[in-house]
Amino acid sequence: MTRPLNVVALSGGTWRPSRTLVLTQAVLAEIATLLPIETTLIELGDIARPLGGALSRDELPADVEAQLLAIEQADLLIVAAPIYRGSYPGLLKHLFDLIGLNALVNTPVLLAATGGSERHALVLDHQLRPLFSFFQALTLPVGVYATEADFTDYQITSDLLKARIQLAAERAAPLFTAHAPSLLKIA
Ligand SMILES: Cc1cc2nc3c(=O)[nH]c(=O)nc-3n(C[C@H](O)[C@H](O)[C@H](O)COP(=O)(O)O)c2cc1C
Repeated sequence: MTRPLNVVALSGGTWRPSRTLVLTQAVLAEIATLLPIETTLIELGDIARPLGGALSRDELPADVEAQLLAIEQADLLIVAAPIYRGSYPGLLKHLFDLIGLNALVNTPVLLAATGGSERHALVLDHQLRPLFSFFQALTLPVGVYATEADFTDYQITSDLLKARIQLAAERAAPLFTAHAPSLLKIA
């Protein structure tokens, strides 16, 4: 691959400030230390209202359609969700209901989530991962789950969370360097 990796990150937060957005940006930044990437960051909150009003793809406004297209064309997709009522937000599912059936086949997907507590950490593996299994996407083995306690004033202050983000990025990078070792910035 001679061009930078096209990384598309979708933060499923619907409000600002957003811990999910902060986590998404931290994952992106960590990947950028390892690989040459170009990034598109999509915030669900920015498109939530027009997205929610569209029952099919052709009802989407052009700017939201462009965001969905970006998701479909990602080399690497990062999907971060806040936990709502023991799951990922319904609007996030609605977004993926409008994604092409075969658009994410073999797309690597790095999963992340933020919740109020540790209790719903398995949403990553029990709910988000099956969604992307449906799409035949390649969910990466290491996901990142954060709780409100990992943040202070919407900044990540937990060393454990920082280490997890680093691990997720380090495990993701070799996927993209197997056929192009020169992409890797560190040995
Ligand atoms: C409507 C709603 C439902 C929530 N349900 C849960 C839940 O079931 N489990 C949990 O751990 N946290 C729950 N939370 C807390 C959020 O997941 C948590 O604060 C998250 O970090 C918010 O992300 P944000 O800052 O990006 O909005 C809920 C928050 C809201 C607003």
